[in-house]
This record gives sequence, structure tokens and C-alpha cells, in this order.
Amino acid sequence: QSPLRLGIAGLGTVGIGVVKIIDKKAALLEARTGRKVVITAVSARSKDKDRGVDLSAYAWESDPVALAKRDDIDVFVELMGGADGPAKDATQAAIASGKDVVTANKAMLALHGQELAEAAEARDLVIRFEAAVAGGIPVVKSLTEGLAGNEIKRVMGVMNGTCNYILTRMEETRQPYGVLFDECAKLGYLEADPTLDVGGIDAGHKLALLAAIAYGTQVDFDAITIEGIQDITLDDIEQASELGYKIKLLGVAQMSARGLEQRMTPCLVPATSPLGQLAGGTNMVVLEGDDVGQIVLRGAGAGEGPTASAVLSDICDIARGIRMATFGQNASALVAAKPAIAAIP
Ligand code: NAP
Ligand code: HSE
Repeated sequence: QSPLRLGIAGLGTVGIGVVKIIDKKAALLEARTGRKVVITAVSARSKDKDRGVDLSAYAWESDPVALAKRDDIDVFVELMGGADGPAKDATQAAIASGKDVVTANKAMLALHGQELAEAAEARDLVIRFEAAVAGGIPVVKSLTEGLAGNEIKRVMGVMNGTCNYILTRMEETRQPYGVLFDECAKLGYLEADPTLDVGGIDAGHKLALLAAIAYGTQVDFDAITIEGIQDITLDDIEQASELGYKIKLLGVAQMSARGLEQRMTPCLVPATSPLGQLAGGTNMVVLEGDDVGQIVLRGAGAGEGPTASAVLSDICDIARGIRMATFGQNASALVAAKPAIAAIP
């Protein structure tokens, strides 16, 4: 088999994590997929930045769109971020040039997922995004593949490591929000625009993607009721604690006769429950299927290794010839859901 050739756009926390895994585990990846997985070309804003890894063997493209169009790549790996701009332009260019896409970009897919999925489908290409939801936890695969025979009753969970870290550490240390926010930056958890994290928007993007898969509906980020954690005070945390609760930014998606309910809001959860005990940058996603019952997935929701691990799972699927539809079923067959709750303006 010919090698699977990757073009990686974005060499930050996640991109460099992916380069390191491919460097270190070439033999393992080949054994598991039956193909060599090789990086052909890379792109980032600054060519001269020291990224702690040797990139000299790869062609350099300063323009990610040019990278996406190169004839010597099979898969465009988008790890720049941003709902629009270079990420979307390059993803569209990759699809137009016949390349499969792997991305960690929940913002782009939450806002443009339907359009991109239809474009990929029209060319028999795949867009895979395991890393976009809950970092290292294989929740997209669990829904699309593991629970393919189930009707999904509910998707629920803590899906933003930054918020969970800040809320947990506020309780543990009684330190103010600002100090803990700075700690998140050092851990590599933050989005380029961290208001997406603390405003609940990043977690909302993830919930919108899971809801689309779970209910066979078009991704509808605008229908989510979202409230962030910026206004949670140490007083709130202390009062919750006295009553035996913790405050978590909790996402819930469920379909009922009223329509699709999607909300991402701070909630009180019992301190002794698995969600209440979820610490640090950890994520937890609870999936409920009619036949399987409840499944709880817990793990690192952000950071270099865990997120790169999820990117590699998508790359390996493509190397193995697994051609999963973007949201688990044909994009053109996805219907718009009736929202059960009006979004807060
Ligand atoms: P990051 O550390 O900020 O890295 C972004 C990379 O993209 C940088 O290498 C940057 O180049 C490059 N870039 C930005 N604009 C570019 C442009 N116009 N042209 C070429 N390159 C450009 O971000 P990250 O944390 O790795 O996140 C990447 C993606 O993964 C985002 O979609 C994010 O939401 C998602 N994600 C991140 C995590 C996480 O834990 N960090 C987890 C899950 C998903 P320079 O380095 O030269 O500035
Ligand atoms: N900023 C995100 C978080 C990264 O804190 O969870 C993972 O998506």
C-alpha cells in the first residue's frame, strides 16, 4: 500500500503533539493500519519559531490554502482553529482538491459543519473530528460506531477543561478566578480566544456536534441555550458546597416531542456524584441509548497528548479505509431539528 501522506496546518499545542506521535510511533501506526503514515508538508504563521521538534524533513507552506491544494498530500489536517478565515478557506480548498480532512476545530464545524459535510460528501471525501469534542475521549466514535444501533435518549456532560479546571480549583483553593485562568493558559487548555471557553461557547460547539450525530439532525449551534462561568463567585461555590453540591458547566442534549433541547449552563450537581467529583481539566460525557443504557466516558478533555491522540485515531481510520460520514450518516439526509427551547439572545 502507498503511504498515507499528511499536510498539517497548525503547529501549536495540538499540531506539534501530532507531529511528535507520528515521529515516535511510525512503526506502531504502520502495523495497526497496514500503511505508512507520513507527513509531507506543514504550515503555521511563523516559520522561524522554535517548536521543540525537527520539522526540516517536511515541505513548508506559509499559506494553509496552498498546503491544502498540494498534490503530494492525501489528507489535510486542520489544527489552526477559528470558525472562519484560514481554517475554513483551507478546509474548503482541501475538499475542492479531493483531500480528506481531519480537524480538531469544533468552532468551524459547529457553524459550518453542514455545508462542509455536504461538500465532502459530494466528492466522496470524509471529514473527521474526534479531537474536536472532549479532547482525548473517543466520544464521536462511541456515538457514530459504538452506539450505531441505539436510539439516543440523552447526551450530557462536562466538555470544557478550562471551565472545569477553574471551577474545581476555585473550590479547592479558594483562589480567585483570574489566578486559575492563568494556570489554564500554562496547561495549554485555552482557546486562542479564551472567552469562548469561559463563556460556555466552546462547550456549546461540542454539544452541537454531538447532538447532530445523536439525533441525525443538522448541527444547530444557534439553538443552544448558553451561559458561561464568568459570573460564578467564590460565594456561589461556598454556598453550593455547604449544601453538598458542586457547580459544573453542564451540557445536555435530548430529543422530546417538543423538539431538540440543547443547553450548556452552570448547574448544581451532587458533590459525591461522578460529575461532582470530576476534577481539573477532565471531561465527562454521559451517553444514554435505548438498548445499551448509560455509558460514562471520562478523560483528558484538552492538552497536547490527549488531543493529538484523538487526531491520530481519525488519521488511522482513514489509513485503514474507514469512510465514516461526517455526522455518522449522509449529510444530505440530515434534517433541521425543531428547537425545544428558544436560545437566550
Ligand atoms: P494553538 O496552540 O494556538 O496553535 C494554532 C496553530 O495554528 C499555530 O501553530 C499557528 O501558527 C497556526 N496558525 C494560526 N493561524 C494561522 C494561519 N493563518 N496560517 C497558518 N497557520 C496558522 O492552538 P491549539 O491549541 O493547538 O488548537 C488548534 C485547534 O485544536 C483549535 O481548533 C482548537 O479549538 C482545537 N483543540 C485544541 C485543544 C487543546 O487542548 N489545545 C483541544 C481540542 C481541540 P504559529 O504557531 O506560527 O502562531
Ligand atoms: N479550550 C478547550 C477546553 C480545549 O478547555 O476544553 C479542548 O477543546
